[in-house]
Amino acid sequence: MPQIIRDPSFDSTLDLLREGYPFLYSRSQRFDSDIFQIRLMGMKAICLHGAEAAELFYDPKKFIRTGAIPRRVQTTLMGLHAIQTRDNGEHRCRKEMFMSLMTPGSRHRLMGLLAEQWEAYSRKWEHQDRVVLFEEAQEILTRAACAWANVPLQEEEVSLRARQFGKMIDGFGGVGLRHGRSKLARINNERWMRGIIRDIRSGKLPVQEGTAAHTVAWHREPDGKLFDVQMAAIELINAIRPIVAIATYITFAALALHEFPPYRQQLRNPHEDYAELFVQEVRRYFPFTPFVGAIVREDFTWHGFEFPKGTMVLLDVYGTDRDERQWEDPEVFWPERFRHWNENPYNFIPQGGGEYLTGHRCAGEWITIEAMKQAVGFLNDGITYDVPPQDLNYDLARMPTLPRSGFVMTNVRRTGKSA
Ligand code: HEM
Repeated sequence: MPQIIRDPSFDSTLDLLREGYPFLYSRSQRFDSDIFQIRLMGMKAICLHGAEAAELFYDPKKFIRTGAIPRRVQTTLMGLHAIQTRDNGEHRCRKEMFMSLMTPGSRHRLMGLLAEQWEAYSRKWEHQDRVVLFEEAQEILTRAACAWANVPLQEEEVSLRARQFGKMIDGFGGVGLRHGRSKLARINNERWMRGIIRDIRSGKLPVQEGTAAHTVAWHREPDGKLFDVQMAAIELINAIRPIVAIATYITFAALALHEFPPYRQQLRNPHEDYAELFVQEVRRYFPFTPFVGAIVREDFTWHGFEFPKGTMVLLDVYGTDRDERQWEDPEVFWPERFRHWNENPYNFIPQGGGEYLTGHRCAGEWITIEAMKQAVGFLNDGITYDVPPQDLNYDLARMPTLPRSGFVMTNVRRTGKSA
């Protein structure tokens, strides 16, 4: 029976914090293997890389998620006991709830709300000396996401809620102060959302059927019971917060437009949906999700390697999206590569892979792509702007990362073309 290669380091937790995104990828290259073993926080973890391994990882018969996501990530990014940590019928029931919010009509409504916000914000930008795109995009997305979800948002709380969502996302790879800030943001945001759920259930806050607020507040678990108020608050946040996270990809898309200007003209080609190729390449090329984790459900072997029940397994998301067997010159930004992509659900996994309903693949992938296309179109044609000297570098050791300046624009002018 072949042995899984072991990283010689006694424990790799500090190396992971030091190296960030490339941590798993560089080891799979060093060991020249799609599978190797490390110790993280004292626990053995089998690490997987590449499309074939992703196909294994996304087989729900082989893995569970209960116990896979550290408490520190749950108390910041997604909330305790949220859908990401559920299995079997309970997961399926919640996933159906989330996917019911992703109909073409519902997505179209969100894009309309977003378009209104891009218009309104760009009008404001014309009177500003400088605009930090990342921060503005977080507000645009917060306003549109809350309106879409039917969650009321007072004008004076927009900035507060946008920052709270932002901090929850920013905290997932953080330690110390960053982790503390993120946790506090979640505590306050959950308190706000519990109030919303209570008001909906008491009839004080009327919400429209089919919206996220209505759907989550009245969702029944497989045992026929409503979520408790706290769980409903967490899952309603899980429908809004990740929309705000799209600000990161929008900022990277702006960076790509700036660094690779020839694509600006390509994006205007009326004969091809070039924006689709462009945003797919942004999701592949720029780092966001480093890896995802699961736990072995029952003992099994794969290519002769033993996977004992209860073992932690990590799938290298960042490295799989730059695997040379699939992606020619992976370190080159080249949207045209997606003309020939075979749409395999395992070789391009920026938001997870596999099936939507039976697995844990991101429920919001279509929204993400559509919102990015809209933003790219608006940045390219809806406004003109200058990009003054600034620090546009992003640190791969920081998870999540972002161009350091947040992408500053000056002299913003509207062209008259709408989003
Ligand atoms: C799950 C990434 C946007 C809702 C996930 C996963 C990743 C991810 C990596 C986990 C996959 C796994 O565990 O195997 C992202 C990124 C986004 C994004 C990078 C864009 C910036 C969205 C949006 C929504 C959303 C817009 C919804 C409005 C969810 C939900 C899950 C999920 C509900 C849990 C799925 C499950 O456990 O079955 N996302 N996501 N995400 N995402 Fe997203």
